[in-house]
Formats: sequence, structure tokens, C-alpha cells
Amino acid sequence: MLKVDKISVEYDGKRVLEDFSLELGAGQVACLVGESGSGKTTVIRSILGLLPEGGEVTQGDILFDGRSLLSSGGYAESLRGRDITMIFQDSGAMIDPVSTIGRQFVEYIRTQDRKAGKREAQARAINMLRQMRLPDPENVMHSYPFQLSGGMRQRVGIAMAMCFEPRLLLADEPTSALDVTTQAQIVRQMMELHTERRTSIILVTHNLGVAAYMSGPSDKIIVMKSGRIVEQGSREKILRCPAQDYTRELLAAIPTMEGEGSGQKYVYA
Ligand SMILES: Nc1ncnc2c1ncn2[C@@H]1O[C@H](COP(=O)(O)OP(=O)(O)O)[C@@H](O)[C@H]1O
Ligand SMILES: [Mg+2]
Repeated sequence: MLKVDKISVEYDGKRVLEDFSLELGAGQVACLVGESGSGKTTVIRSILGLLPEGGEVTQGDILFDGRSLLSSGGYAESLRGRDITMIFQDSGAMIDPVSTIGRQFVEYIRTQDRKAGKREAQARAINMLRQMRLPDPENVMHSYPFQLSGGMRQRVGIAMAMCFEPRLLLADEPTSALDVTTQAQIVRQMMELHTERRTSIILVTHNLGVAAYMSGPSDKIIVMKSGRIVEQGSREKILRCPAQDYTRELLAAIPTMEGEGSGQKYVYA
């Protein structure tokens, strides 16, 4: 379904991503892990076709269903928001602060589906908020973003991103701004939606514990550093026999679920 084929990316002529490849089938998960600045967001933005000013894919190609997302002609645009969606680290920052959640959600649905009436869109939005386990979804619809907690806003972001049953969900540190317990809940709910709908996911995280939890036996964890892939493999390989010191350091940095000393790693939650 998705094939990233040896891409390099430059910002203003400076190369920040080198020779990156990734293949993803329907329903598969790929997790990108690595320290800050290793190029994870650059990968995600390249796939979405939304590199910031000055950013450019200078080599390689990105194919979705065998067609290049980099070609002009509107192919990437036609997929964005529906077949390919994205959640950011703080969806709250993406949401308009002066408009209610309901208004924005309904507008999003009606932009993507011109046939949807207002009431129908409202019902769909409420249904999605409920699936993300937001308590009292009707009330959430009437709320302004600042009235919700970070975790609630993030659930709204995921609800919007999952609304049209995208085939590919790009999630850039979707839980990193949240406390560990909320992270665990949200990751679990993303997993439920992913399993029910066979959504493919590329998840960016600096927490190998989250990556391990999101990955199944046939999924892949890709470890990145300085714009390059350091190593990649199944969850079992990366967790049990990492080949690189760098990966071992990331493993050692996994926060525990119930604080230090409980001995329970988030991985096994
Ligand atoms: N808009 C930009 N302009 C110039 N350099 C950038 C820009 N965005 C990111 N970079 C650089 O590209 C590299 C990779 O960044 P990024 O993909 O954001 O890493 P990560 O998401 O892993 O933290 C870093 O060295 C960063 O400084
Ligand atoms: Mg990033």
C-alpha cells in the first residue's frame, strides 16, 4: 500500500534525512523511534506532502497504491484528510481556539463529505467522540478547546483523524505531552480502532515502550538517529536483542507505568 523508496530530504539545501525506506501493508503498524532531531517528523511530513517552507524530497519516491505522492496533479491532495490522516503531538494547538469542538468537527466532516447534512455530521462526530471514550460527548461538542484537558483534546484529534476510516494514519508523538496513564489509555484506544478497521499506522514516538505496545508480531520498529535508520526489526528483535548501543539506551529510558520501583514496564501493560 505505502512504499517509501530511498528518500532523502533537505531543508534549505541541508540534508537532514538520508536514504530512508519503509514499506507498509494494509493494517500494519510501523513505529519510528529515535532521539529529538533524528528526522522522524520529517519522514511523516514527507509522506503527507506537507514539508515546511524550504523542505524538499531531493531523492527517491513515495508510492501509495503504486502511484507517486510526490508527483504534481493532486494525487496526494486527493488522499489527504480522508485516506491519509494525521494526528500531531498537541491536536489542541491545531484546533481553532475560538470555535467550539462541535463546530469544527462538523465543519471538517462536511468538508470531507459534501453530502453530509448538519445533523448527520453532528451524530457522526458524537459517535466518534464516544468511541474515543470521551465522557459526555454532547458536552464536549459544546466546549471550547481550552475547556478540555490535554488528554481530552488529543482524543478529539484522534476522533477527527479516524472519522473517515483512513487507510493510513500518521501519528506524530500523539501522546508525548500527556502523563503516562493517559498515554496508556489513548494508545489502547488507538489500538482498538486500528484493529477494528485495519488502519495502517505510522507512529512516531521517542518512547520505545509505546512503540512496543502498538506493534504486533508482524509489525516493524524503525530506530532512527541523525536522519538515518540505525536498525529495524520486529518488536521481539528490537526489545530482546537490539544490535545497537543507541537502541539499548532508548530501551533503558522507557518510563515505568506506575512510577519507579514498581518493576512494571509500560511495555507489558
Ligand atoms: N523547518 C525546518 N527547517 C530547517 N531545519 C529543520 C526544519 N525542521 C526540522 N529541521 C531539522 O531537521 C532535522 C530533523 O528534524 P525532525 O524531523 O523534526 O526530527 P524529530 O521529529 O525526530 O525530532 C533536525 O536537525 C532539525 O533541526
Ligand atoms: Mg518530531
